[in-house]
Amino acid sequence: MDERLAANQANWDDRVPIHLASRFYDVDRWVAREPMPLERESTLIGSVAGKTLVQLQCHIGLETLQWARAGAQVTGVDFSRAAIAAATDLAARTGLSSRATFVCADVYEADIALAASTFDVVYVSLGSLGWLPDVRRWARVVANVLAPGGTFFIHDVHPLSSCLDDQGERFAYGYFEEPGRPFVSDTDSTYTDGGPLAHTRNYEWNHSLGEIIQALLDEGLVLDALHEHDWTVFQQFPWLVEDAGTYRIPDQHPRVPLTFSLLAHAPVVGTKTA
Ligand SMILES: C[S@@+](CC[C@H](N)C(=O)[O-])C[C@H]1O[C@@H](n2cnc3c(N)ncnc32)[C@H](O)[C@@H]1O
Repeated sequence: MDERLAANQANWDDRVPIHLASRFYDVDRWVAREPMPLERESTLIGSVAGKTLVQLQCHIGLETLQWARAGAQVTGVDFSRAAIAAATDLAARTGLSSRATFVCADVYEADIALAASTFDVVYVSLGSLGWLPDVRRWARVVANVLAPGGTFFIHDVHPLSSCLDDQGERFAYGYFEEPGRPFVSDTDSTYTDGGPLAHTRNYEWNHSLGEIIQALLDEGLVLDALHEHDWTVFQQFPWLVEDAGTYRIPDQHPRVPLTFSLLAHAPVVGTKTA
C-alpha cells in the first residue's frame, strides 16, 4: 500500500475507539433509537427494500446498518480493521447481522475484495473522497461494483470548502487534484470530541467537482442529479451555526458550498469502453 494511505490507515484505526466513545456519534443512543436512513438521501435513492447495497469507506457502519434496517442486504468496506470490527459488533448489537457483511479492504481494491460482486446501490457518505489521491481510480471501482441499472449516490465535502483554511477565512489549498501534493497534517485530534490520537500524520487530497463528475462519466455512469449545499453535518469552520443536527452559514456570511450530493446510475446495457 502507498505509504501515505498506510499512515492514514493507522490514523483511522486510532480514531475508531475515540469515535465509539464520542458524543458526536453517540453510539449507545444510535443503538437505542434504531434510526432509518436520512430522509433527504432515501428520497433521492428510492426504496432499497430487497436490494443489495455497498457502502465504500463505511467507517463504523452506522449508515450502512441504517440501509439494512430499510430492507437492503448491505456490505460495508473500509480499510480500518478497527472500524470493520466495530461495524460487525454493531450489526450484532442491532440484530442486523443477517443483513450485513463488513469487509476490510482499501477502497481501491474493493472490487477485488468483493470477488467481483455487483450491487444495486453504491453509497458513499461525508468524509470519504478527501482520503484518496486519485479520483479516476476510485470511479473505476465504483463502476466495477455497480450492477447494470444500479444507483450510485455520494454526499461529500464540497471541494471548494476544502480549499479554505481551518478558520474558513482564506484560500489555503488547491482546488484541483494533485496526487503528488497531498495536504499533510500532524494533529492528535479528530473531528469528534475525545482523543488524543497516537498516529497523528495524515494525508488528504482535493478533487474538483468537475474531476469527480468527469471520472464517473468516463466510467459510463449517467448523471441524474447534482446538488451543492450551503450546510454540512460537522463544525467544519468555527463560524458555522448548529441548527438541528446540521451546520449552516450565518445570515451575514457569504454563502459558499459546503457539501454536494450526486446521484447517477449505470446503464442497463453497458456503455463502458475498455
Ligand atoms: C468519515 S468516514 C466516512 C463514513 C461516514 N461518513 C461516517 O462518518 O461514519 C471515512 C472512512 O474512510 C475510510 N478510509 C479512508 N481511506 C480509505 C481507503 N483508502 N480505503 C478504504 N477506506 C478508507 C476511513 O477508515 C474512515 O472509516
